[in-house]
Amino acid sequence: MVYFLFWLLSLLYCARPGSAWVASNLLMTGPKAYLKYARSVQMGVQTGVVECKHQFSWDRWNCPDSATLPKGLRRATRETSFVHAISAAGVMHTLARNCSLGDLDSCGCDVSRNGKIGGPGWLWGGCSANVDFGEKISKQYVDSQETGQDPRAAVNLHNNAAGRLAVKATMRRVCRCHGMSQSCSVKTCWTQLPDFRDVGNYLKTKHSQAQKLNIDRKHMRAGNSAVSQGAIVDALDSIARTELIYLEESPDYCRRNVSMGLPGTEGRECVAHKEAATQWERRSCRRLCHDCGLRVEERRAEVLSSCNCKFHWCCTVDCDDCKRVVVKHACVRRDGADSLGSRRRSRDSK
Ligand SMILES: *[C@@H]1O[C@H](CO)[C@@H](O)[C@H](O)[C@H]1NC(C)=O
Ligand SMILES: *[C@@H]1O[C@H](CO)[C@@H](O)[C@H](O)[C@H]1NC(C)=O
Repeated sequence: MVYFLFWLLSLLYCARPGSAWVASNLLMTGPKAYLKYARSVQMGVQTGVVECKHQFSWDRWNCPDSATLPKGLRRATRETSFVHAISAAGVMHTLARNCSLGDLDSCGCDVSRNGKIGGPGWLWGGCSANVDFGEKISKQYVDSQETGQDPRAAVNLHNNAAGRLAVKATMRRVCRCHGMSQSCSVKTCWTQLPDFRDVGNYLKTKHSQAQKLNIDRKHMRAGNSAVSQGAIVDALDSIARTELIYLEESPDYCRRNVSMGLPGTEGRECVAHKEAATQWERRSCRRLCHDCGLRVEERRAEVLSSCNCKFHWCCTVDCDDCKRVVVKHACVRRDGADSLGSRRRSRDSK
């Protein structure tokens, strides 16, 4: 995550003359204004990446750190669409929460609707989450990375915006009753930010439903930038703003590919039947190991933990150390094969 601070700084100090946004923004507001929220933005991106790792912990692609570096983001797959969306959402969510908590002097609760009728039987009141501020800062910082005019930049910007819409879609309304002995003759309501987990769950579903953007290749090849921009806009128009989109099919993520920043699934832990909580977890050994030409190895480890604890009045606790064997499962190579590809090769050569 240090890297993200680095890109913020590199945006500031290594701004190429060609990157118009950075130049004009610095002229208008100066580096101080730009740095003002840098730390909170960095925390927001980190929140997004941590959630990404949680959401994909039993998938072949498990949001590896390399995927969140610009090099890994150069492709536009389903997975990079998720990284873009969750990062933009993380920044928006963090900054909006900063406002409600009074961390920042430039924003607070959104009270713009307070006193107005919100719906049948309720009025706006209290401290509504300032999502507009969070959205604005997320746009300023996260979207500023996309300086290109190519389809990939357009796709990334679309996915950033879809991530911010996910925060809005998962907002909750909370109400309080007023009136004679809380009779609820008057109710005031405000909006509350969702737990970021809700945003992650929502976007994970969007990831599984992501749509491939089909741009009219004929117009792209024309070489005329106005025509190709038109082709991109036309293609984007056909897809709802809430949906994640991608340009390239994903690899199978089984094999390690250093130049692509993909670690592969060898060595990954999976969940064997008994312990699995969900069906997705239950199938993780098949998905991560078997389907990738690897086998599952059982690993036993002894762990020491406290047990037989007795509480003595007052106030000590005596416990024994108990040894417990934990069984874990991991994907390993099959004998004589270094993974899917070479297994195929060796079979072919026979
Ligand atoms: C905003 O919130 C994040 C995460 O809770 C926190 O780390 C950061 O310090 C906050 N920003 C400010 C300026 O307090
Ligand atoms: C890594 O991926 C690239 C791009 O798909 C491919 O050209 C290259 O052969 C791959 N390398 C390995 C070791 O699989």
